[in-house]
Amino acid sequence: MKGTFDVLPDTGTSRDSDIPGSAQWLDAEARIREVMRRFNVREIRTPIFEPTGLIARGIGALTDVVSKEMFAFEREGVDYVLRPENTAPVMRAYLQHNLAQIGGVQKLSYIGPFFRAEQPQKGRYRQFHQFGAEYIGSEDPRSDAEMIALMMAVYEAFGITGMRLRLNTLGSPDSRAAYRDALRQYFAPHVGALTETSRQRLDKNPLRLLDTKVEHERALVAEAPRLTEFVSEDDHAHYGEVKRLLDGLGIAFVEDPLLVRGLDYYTRTTFELESDKLGAQSALAGGGRYDLLAVEIGAKKPVPAVGFAAGFERLFIALHAEHLADAQYAAPDVALVALGERAADWAFRTAQDLRAAGLAVATDLKGRSMKAQMREANRQNAPLVLIVGDHELDQNEVVLKQMDTGEQRTVADADLIAAIQGI
Ligand code: HAM
Repeated sequence: MKGTFDVLPDTGTSRDSDIPGSAQWLDAEARIREVMRRFNVREIRTPIFEPTGLIARGIGALTDVVSKEMFAFEREGVDYVLRPENTAPVMRAYLQHNLAQIGGVQKLSYIGPFFRAEQPQKGRYRQFHQFGAEYIGSEDPRSDAEMIALMMAVYEAFGITGMRLRLNTLGSPDSRAAYRDALRQYFAPHVGALTETSRQRLDKNPLRLLDTKVEHERALVAEAPRLTEFVSEDDHAHYGEVKRLLDGLGIAFVEDPLLVRGLDYYTRTTFELESDKLGAQSALAGGGRYDLLAVEIGAKKPVPAVGFAAGFERLFIALHAEHLADAQYAAPDVALVALGERAADWAFRTAQDLRAAGLAVATDLKGRSMKAQMREANRQNAPLVLIVGDHELDQNEVVLKQMDTGEQRTVADADLIAAIQGI
């Protein structure tokens, strides 16, 4: 299916070379959860689909994500979409369950699949996977700075280098409205020189013109008025504090007044983390503050909040480029090789006992020859093979073979678990 992939157990077996095996996914998820633990962030899980209205109001009906990239369906007269992101759903859950009553800041994280019907390319899929966090309930700049620190700590945990953190403030809706007008005025004499897409953007959301990739438009953008000139003193002070806190943590960033994000809910702080390993889709992660999202989706009062989300697939491209993606499944502790029906029955039951004792056990489920079973044990890199046939059964014993040395010894079957664990 276009823009989707399967995650197979072994790395390198998927036809999509950027997608590692499931051991690598499990390893990455465990590392991310460990960073979340250190920041005292707890997981939230929301449905994979949400009402279209929530997503459209939350993200903004004019964004690319909502206007052209939704996977939508209808059921019993209600329109739904597969979730394209999680900030609006998490805020919905926060409001619906009145998590504000708990007090303090809710620090929530998530890992899961998301859906956008984009044109697939390297690092861009239609079903992709994000990890992210949302801090809900504080407008303090410490919240913004800690969120960025959390995001950076994840990449640090993986040892990734060659990253660039871009930072900006989008101010408040008022300042942005004034800025939009200023941009329209500035671009008006140049409309003829703009591409069709940019002309539409100028009409609907001129801020999106700032991240144009078209060369001659970039030259125009370079001379355009800056949002910074329209941002209120309060918003500037908030931004200044975020920068001071980041400096204090030793987190390097570059200020980029042209950084606009593709989702409409942002106010004040916005940021994006780029990697030089990714090519055209250079964003590893992005996020920002969204104090007014709650109101957009039906709350009576603003709920201050800040968050980030990051793509797993892009993390893997970066890991791969730095040769850091090498997690594999561990081999089984022991493989059982049985000769004959009676021994196969015994092995089948004994496997259960060994597993109950906590051992990872490989068995033959196809009634294969002893030679084929040995070959399979080898292929699976089992360090230990337990060999049993009629003769051993009659003596109530089994043979344990240590594969690295080839050494074999006979063990009474009553002592089996202790013997395996002792090796
Ligand atoms: P976003 O920038 O749309 O933000 O997505 C965050 C990250 O998800 C991107 O930087 C990228 O790594 C990954 N991503 C997005 N679309 C795709 C795709 N089609 N294929 C592969 N990876 C993709 C958000 O989603 C916001 N909810 C972030 C946020 C959280 N803001 C506040 N809180």
